[in-house]
Amino acid sequence: MAVTRTFSIIKPDATRRNITGKVTTMLEDAGLRVVACKRLHLTKAQAEGFYAVHAERPFFADLVAFMTSGPVVVQVLEGEDAVALNRKVMGATNPDNADAGTIRKELAESIEANTVHGSDSEENAAIEIAYFFKPEEVVG
Ligand code: PPS
Repeated sequence: MAVTRTFSIIKPDATRRNITGKVTTMLEDAGLRVVACKRLHLTKAQAEGFYAVHAERPFFADLVAFMTSGPVVVQVLEGEDAVALNRKVMGATNPDNADAGTIRKELAESIEANTVHGSDSEENAAIEIAYFFKPEEVVG
């Protein structure tokens, strides 16, 4: 399996609870390596642009409001089949449906405050990485 990259956001519920280290440790323990990282407070325009694909969904306004409610930590993660590996360690979107031991099962508060975002394909990973990072900010 090839070493690839994915994009991750540690969401405002995690920065509020001061558990970004715990989340990162779970990512690292799963075999992912942080090759870029920064802490940001997303603007409304940044969040709307990032989640544009969900613009027609009923929860869009809530999602944007939540993602701009506090700081986030954006990361590029590297590992073997990184997109799939990250989604496995994140667990299902709704923590009620997530497997034991996953980040969302162990740490998430709700389907909205679900602690982490991870790209859903390598194509989207490349788009999402470029949304937040210049190439020289990613150091493998
Ligand atoms: S996925 O992974 O794209 O299939 O998940 P999906 O269910 O389509 O959800 C897309 C993102 O929207 C968030 N979400 C919600 N936010 C607020 N309220 C409700 N009800 C809700 N349902 C889903 C979900 O956490 C996903 O965010 P990201 O950042 O992509 O994980």
